[in-house]
Amino acid sequence: MNLLRNIRALSGRNGKQIALLVLVGFFMTMIVKTSIFKATIVEIIQSMQTVQRYNNDPVYYTRTYQGRKTYLVTWYEMISFLQKRPWARTADFSQCDYNNCEITTNRNMAKESDLVLFQGRWMPKSVGFKRPSGQIWVFVDVEPPTIIERLSKQKKYGLRKFRRDFNWTMTFDKTLADIHLPYGELRKYKKDVVKNYTAIALNKRKGALMVVSHCPVDSKRMDYAKKLNETIDVTVLGSCGTEWDCGRRLFHDDCFSILNEYAFFLPFENSLCHQYFTEKLFENFHYDTLFVTRGGLPYEASSIFPKGVVIDFDQFESPQHLGRELKQMMEDKEGYAKRLEMKSQYYSINFRESYQRALCDLCYRLNHQDIFYKTIPDILQILSPKHSCRNMGI
Ligand SMILES: *[C@@H]1O[C@H](CO)[C@@H](O)[C@H](O)[C@H]1NC(C)=O
Ligand SMILES: *[C@@H]1O[C@H](CO)[C@@H](O)[C@H](O)[C@H]1NC(C)=O
Ligand SMILES: *[C@@H]1O[C@H](CO)[C@@H](O)[C@H](O)[C@H]1NC(C)=O
Repeated sequence: MNLLRNIRALSGRNGKQIALLVLVGFFMTMIVKTSIFKATIVEIIQSMQTVQRYNNDPVYYTRTYQGRKTYLVTWYEMISFLQKRPWARTADFSQCDYNNCEITTNRNMAKESDLVLFQGRWMPKSVGFKRPSGQIWVFVDVEPPTIIERLSKQKKYGLRKFRRDFNWTMTFDKTLADIHLPYGELRKYKKDVVKNYTAIALNKRKGALMVVSHCPVDSKRMDYAKKLNETIDVTVLGSCGTEWDCGRRLFHDDCFSILNEYAFFLPFENSLCHQYFTEKLFENFHYDTLFVTRGGLPYEASSIFPKGVVIDFDQFESPQHLGRELKQMMEDKEGYAKRLEMKSQYYSINFRESYQRALCDLCYRLNHQDIFYKTIPDILQILSPKHSCRNMGI
């Protein structure tokens, strides 16, 4: 209103005022050109279109409210890591800033969805529906590039065929992913976590523990563990060690409290790839034991985790050197207690929180497609282990 009054007042005069008017006009144009303003215009047009469809289309009617489009997201195949978690089926957008999205795991809805989430590594050879124009395809996976590349070469999977068809990625690699879906993240507690760490240290009689479900893996972790075993006792539970009827693969049950008995836990990853630190680390982080990591690119653990919170294998010349250091740490009870105290001031956000954040991110993007508009030229190229994994000679 003020602006209008000013313009009206100005228009009656001349000279300098006209110049001022031109200037005001120029700034107005600049504002219109910014993407925020454009996004608003897109929203207005969309809601006008929505109202039109509203009246003739009962299905569409139920998916819209207050004249605002509701975006439908379909899991073509939920990633296996989520399938084993009951809460994943009920996760939705209700707690997001942008909550005008809906999600279903009913694959039949894919053909009429605004966005389809695919489990990338198991992409089928044919999706069984015609992709409507404008539909967004998202590559989702939490397996490392080594495994994705290997599966893409197998005849039964179709990722090679669809490699140029994805718009966005949802993975653990923050640098590459459009939507970041990490296994966890370490955070510091707001209040000091007080325990009798000395008592815990005095109780540690067992050396290092490793729990493994897959044996021959790219990282050759068993070879490393065997060498470590020359200087500190390493117990291996699971399919490549002593059989262990606990935590069937992806679940980490209460039986994992066995970690408390050991001085060290070794969440060794199956592949050494950029930012690939998994639930082995994050979902067990709360146990009273020190973590020795073997994952990521060289020295990555030292740079992404808070200082002194994990023991990074890269800091040691050889497994024997690491083993000797661990042995010493275990014997120096006071030192061990101090380290454990430092580590215990941190916790990990769990995968549930990570997934929820990713969903909210997804809905935000659906509401701002003009900003996030893109097609990935070749998913196999950007996810190639050549760029993001250590070559361990397999
Ligand atoms: C902690 O435990 C040690 C060993 O069991 C004991 O000597 C000490 O008194 C305990 N400290 C506290 C504060 O309870
Ligand atoms: C470590 O060595 C002991 C014998 O000293 C052996 O019983 C155990 O199986 C070894 N563990 C690994 C992981 O090689
Ligand atoms: C998604 O990718 C497809 C084809 O690869 C493209 O036609 C479409 O415009 C893209 N959409 C967005 C929102 O980026």
